[in-house]
Parts: sequence; structure tokens; C-alpha cells
Amino acid sequence: MRRLPGHPDTVRGYVPAATLAPLLDAGPLSVRHEVSGGAQEYRLSMSGVVLRRWTDEDLPVLQRSNTEEMTRYLGGPESNEKLLQRQVKNMRLWEAGEAHMFTVNTSWSRVPVGSVGYWKASNQNRDIYEAGWSIATQFQGRGLASNALEACILDAAAQNDRNTLFAFPRIDNVASNALCRRVGLIWQSEEDFEYPVGVPIRVNAWSVEQH
Ligand SMILES: CC(C)(COP(=O)(O)OP(=O)(O)OC[C@H]1O[C@@H](n2cnc3c(N)ncnc32)[C@H](O)[C@@H]1OP(=O)(O)O)[C@@H](O)C(=O)NCCC(=O)NCCS
Repeated sequence: MRRLPGHPDTVRGYVPAATLAPLLDAGPLSVRHEVSGGAQEYRLSMSGVVLRRWTDEDLPVLQRSNTEEMTRYLGGPESNEKLLQRQVKNMRLWEAGEAHMFTVNTSWSRVPVGSVGYWKASNQNRDIYEAGWSIATQFQGRGLASNALEACILDAAAQNDRNTLFAFPRIDNVASNALCRRVGLIWQSEEDFEYPVGVPIRVNAWSVEQH
């Protein structure tokens, strides 16, 4: 997403390190790095939701979320070519240390139920992480996005890289704004945004500080 200029950057969200550290060490979040079949697996588990590092088998996750309903606030369905580019990008950015994109998995679904992740971005000339998410329509409304985003926030904090994680849901995206509130992101302001490139939209800026 590309930002439009001109809005003050006021960050008030704060999760004390003392709160995060025990969670990362032993709490509800467990992190496992595995090497299987030559590929490194990177998994986070939280409250029954497992985040898995994006792999070359995960194009169907993007395809399943490419519906009118799922992309209503994201500019509508994308072309097959664009989905393929996104698939490659999700893996390339992780390799390059620019992003962590995950599939969202549960014990009761054979296929991933959605995606969540964060990437390096800039906000008012500050280096931040920006987060995004998607849970397939039939699996919504049971707390999956909340658990997935919480694990994601803790993973971002564990990088010890950027102090602030932002999300920018469109102001009329009721579910995504409720999700931000529910996981404890702090509302900062309404801002102008551009998504997809060339399409101006109005968003809420939500953030959490990670010290
Ligand atoms: C946003 C989204 C991920 C939520 O997934 P989910 O698994 O249903 O979310 P959860 O069950 O964890 O619920 C999180 C909050 O959203 C609310 N919510 C979920 N779906 C909602 C809906 N259709 N309308 C209103 N609120 C909704 C829940 O009630 C909950 O808030 P609460 O704790 O105040 O009750 C899902 O709707 C989605 O994938 N939307 C399309 C993708 C998208 O718009 N991404 C935006 C990127 S900025």
C-alpha cells in the first residue's frame, strides 16, 4: 500500500515489554523453527490457531480469498497474474527479511483458513510494520483472525526491529476495525490512503507500540 502524505503521526498504543517477554518465552504463543525436506518451517501457535510461514504450495489460499465479498474493501478481486505475483512476493519478502506472511491453520480444517502477516513500511517518515489479514468467509466470526493477529503482533515484537505496528483498515470495514479494537490496537486517526495504487480511500490508523 502506498501512503498519501499530510497526516500527523501520533502514536499512543503501548504494550509494555514486561507483558510481551513472558508471552514470548512460555505463554500462549509457541514458536517452532523446523527443517523438513530441506525447507525451513516457521510456526507460531496461539489458542488453537497455527501460523505457518508462507510456502510455494499456498497459492490456493490467495485464490480462495479472491472473491467479491472478501475483497470488498481491498479494491475487488485480482487477476490470476496478480495473484501469482503476490504468491511469489510473499515468499521473496520473507527471504529478504522484509515481511513475515503466514497462512492461518486450525486442527479441524484440512486447508488453511486464511492469511495474516506484516511487512516493513513507512508512516510519516518513520519505519513501521504494517499488518494485513484475511479469513475465508465460511470461517469468520469465531475468533480466528483475533488469535492470528495476536500471534502476528508478538512475532513482530520478537524481531526487535521496529517499535510500532500499524494497520490501516478502510473506515467502512466494520469487521477489520472491530478486529483491531479487539486485539488491543489503539486508534490514532482517520487518514487518506491509496489502495490499490491510484485509488484513494479513507482508513483508520490503528497501532501498537512494541518496546
Ligand atoms: C476482518 C476479518 C479477517 C475478520 O475475521 P474473523 O475471523 O471473522 O474475526 P474474529 O472472529 O476474530 O472477530 C474479530 C472482531 O470482528 C468482529 N467481526 C467479525 N466479522 C464481523 C462482521 N461481518 N461484521 C461486524 N463485525 C465483525 C467480531 O465480532 C470481533 O469483534 P468483537 O470482539 O468486538 O465482537 C474477516 O472479516 C475478513 O477476512 N475480511 C475480508 C478481508 C479484509 O477485509 N481484510 C482487511 C485488511 S485491512
